[in-house]
Amino acid sequence: MRRKVVAGNWKMNHTSATGADFAAGIAPKFQTSAEVVFCVPYTNLWCVKEAVKDYPIGIGAQNLHYEDSGAFTGEVSADMLLKMEAKYVIVGHSERRAYYNETDETVNKKLKKAVSKGLTPIVCVGEQLTQREQGITEDLLRMQVRIAYMDVDAETALATIIAYEPVWAIGTGKTATPDQAQQACACVREVFGVLYGTDAASKIRILYGGSVTGANAKDLFDMPDIDGGLVGGASLKTEFVDIVNAVK
Ligand code: 13P
Repeated sequence: MRRKVVAGNWKMNHTSATGADFAAGIAPKFQTSAEVVFCVPYTNLWCVKEAVKDYPIGIGAQNLHYEDSGAFTGEVSADMLLKMEAKYVIVGHSERRAYYNETDETVNKKLKKAVSKGLTPIVCVGEQLTQREQGITEDLLRMQVRIAYMDVDAETALATIIAYEPVWAIGTGKTATPDQAQQACACVREVFGVLYGTDAASKIRILYGGSVTGANAKDLFDMPDIDGGLVGGASLKTEFVDIVNAVK
């Protein structure tokens, strides 16, 4: 049985003070068997971790650098995240691909670095609207997964989580239907199986992200190949409690 994961991606929201308050306020309300994760801005990692330390909530970052140290102004390394007691890190989010030159190749390097340091990367893939309209969604997902996991062994691959996030559904209120999300997640699982075998494919956790709400979470998370969600906007509201608690 794959344990479900519900991760909030706070993006560039909350200061350390408001973030800690918000996290402390919702943490006692979760009633779920899911693994709950808050992926917060770097500056909030420590405060939010402290704020929820009495609860089974994992803290994650939203990016890392693939080098250990050096002249990379403004960047943050895996060791720096670990020192803040982060356990997870989002890699290859579409906003980083769109605005900060993240590529499948940098995703591959970051995935390897994260796992080698003991962080769990949440590796994002997903198509843009034009790609869906051209009917190349599955080709694109296969390519994104294959490059992200290039020269990655099965043990390393299974230490990751994948998030399928169609770009057209992010922050738009246009959620993929459960069937669309299921089909894409099944495709991701299939390509993972081609790379690592059916047993590994049955173990890898694949999340859906893109306008998940309290109202649609259960229908999405009940699909056979969807193992939870990566939640943006709604993770900043108390609605996140309903999304987490949609996993009984
Ligand atoms: P929204 O839930 O705001 O659509 O964002 C999804 C997302 O990008 C999570 O990483």
